[in-house]
Amino acid sequence: MKFFLDSAKIDEIKYAYEAFGIDGVTTNPRHVMASGKPFLTVVKELADWVKEKGLEGYERFPISVEVNPHLGSAEEMVSAARRVAAMSPNFVIKIPCTPAGIKAAKDLEAEGIRTNLTLVFSPSQAIIAAKNGSKFVSPFIGWKEDNGESTRQYIDDIVKIYKNYGWYGKTEIICAAVRSAKQIVDCAVSGADIVTAGVSVFEAAFRHPYTRQGLDTFCDAWDHTAKE
Ligand code: E4P
Repeated sequence: MKFFLDSAKIDEIKYAYEAFGIDGVTTNPRHVMASGKPFLTVVKELADWVKEKGLEGYERFPISVEVNPHLGSAEEMVSAARRVAAMSPNFVIKIPCTPAGIKAAKDLEAEGIRTNLTLVFSPSQAIIAAKNGSKFVSPFIGWKEDNGESTRQYIDDIVKIYKNYGWYGKTEIICAAVRSAKQIVDCAVSGADIVTAGVSVFEAAFRHPYTRQGLDTFCDAWDHTAKE
């Protein structure tokens, strides 16, 4: 399973890459706003960083970048996507799963610009992402659960459908808006390819109180043992 960091803050991305390892990044307009920097500055920083790290190419380290969410037509989305995609070989363009977005993602994939069909809330939306060859599909987990919906069956269904039709691994499933260790594990058990989450979600997921307690026990034993 791959871990993507859901962030547009370059320092946070560098930290997560070094501290526990991440396989890619997903951004969205809210993350860019939270960075406090202009959109173009953020994408340039990301493009420069992957170059400097020798991580060039979306196959090595994909970075999903969302174009202006106000764009209403497929043509507008395609031309904005072309401009962003030209800035780095790592950029994958996030396109919303609307009728215009579906056409834009299909046309972009046909010209070799990789896409991440986002704001996906049903298995039928995930089907169109795979049929049109998007590199990624982003079913949102946290938002559905915040709305009182269970997501285990939802991810199971997408994985099963993808396996049924040979799409599994071709259009990679990014479980998005993941908020807890339990959700990470649920996505992994279902067979999703990737989870994307914030630093605090990952760090909390890697902690366990028994680990700390066990370490205290061993420290105590060490301190009460002759060394020679
Ligand atoms: C996914 O690609 C999105 O960026 C993200 O998960 C959206 O959710 P959030 O900002 O509420 O976490």
